[in-house]
Amino acid sequence: MSDTLAFDIYGTLIDTQGITGMLEKHAGHNSGAFSLLWRQKQLEYSFRRGLMQLYRDFDVCTVQALDYALLTFGIFLSPAEKNELLEKYRALPVFEDVTESLEQSRKAGFRVFAFSNGKPSDIEQLLVHAGIREFFIDIISVDEVQSFKPDPAVYRHFLEKTASKPEHAWLVSSNPFDILGAVAVKMKAVWVQRSPSIIMDPWEFTPTLTVKKMDEMTAAIQSWKNRQGS
Ligand code: 2OP
Repeated sequence: MSDTLAFDIYGTLIDTQGITGMLEKHAGHNSGAFSLLWRQKQLEYSFRRGLMQLYRDFDVCTVQALDYALLTFGIFLSPAEKNELLEKYRALPVFEDVTESLEQSRKAGFRVFAFSNGKPSDIEQLLVHAGIREFFIDIISVDEVQSFKPDPAVYRHFLEKTASKPEHAWLVSSNPFDILGAVAVKMKAVWVQRSPSIIMDPWEFTPTLTVKKMDEMTAAIQSWKNRQGS
């Protein structure tokens, strides 16, 4: 059977910083810093909810992280303005190298899945909006496990649901914590290092492969497999 690809969504295919323009009218010159804090807190809340076993879906992490960022920057938004921002979060832009990369993965015969912390309905909406839904066999969400990445249970759920063996399943992610989560359960992992300033966590695990751009990924996996004779 062909190898399976598990594409992470937020930060890997979909640009979470794509909200910055919309934040300008509320946060002015702080819009970049606001957007980064919002994303960092959203992830931190997901990690904490995973550890505390207090699962609420990723939307809740996103809303509570937005509230935290608003308090930090002393910004008041009406419920309508907040809803407008959250609606925009469900229509974030796709990175420019993604469609070509998905096309290459499909041509190479990989089994392609979306694998995300996000709720299935949100991921569906993002992928449809980005015009890339057709590339995915299915959307696998942590919501089915009621925990978050990098809980090993969510990666195991992915393997079970897609009937994949870890040595033939590749996580494709730009998020270092996600890469370590996958490698820790013996999956293969391609780290998409979108900027040289992003550092891989210096833990006891490393990504199987690192690429600078998404459209280098398929060729990198194929040449790795050729070298391994697998
Ligand atoms: C995702 O699961 C980690 O936020 C990232 O889509």
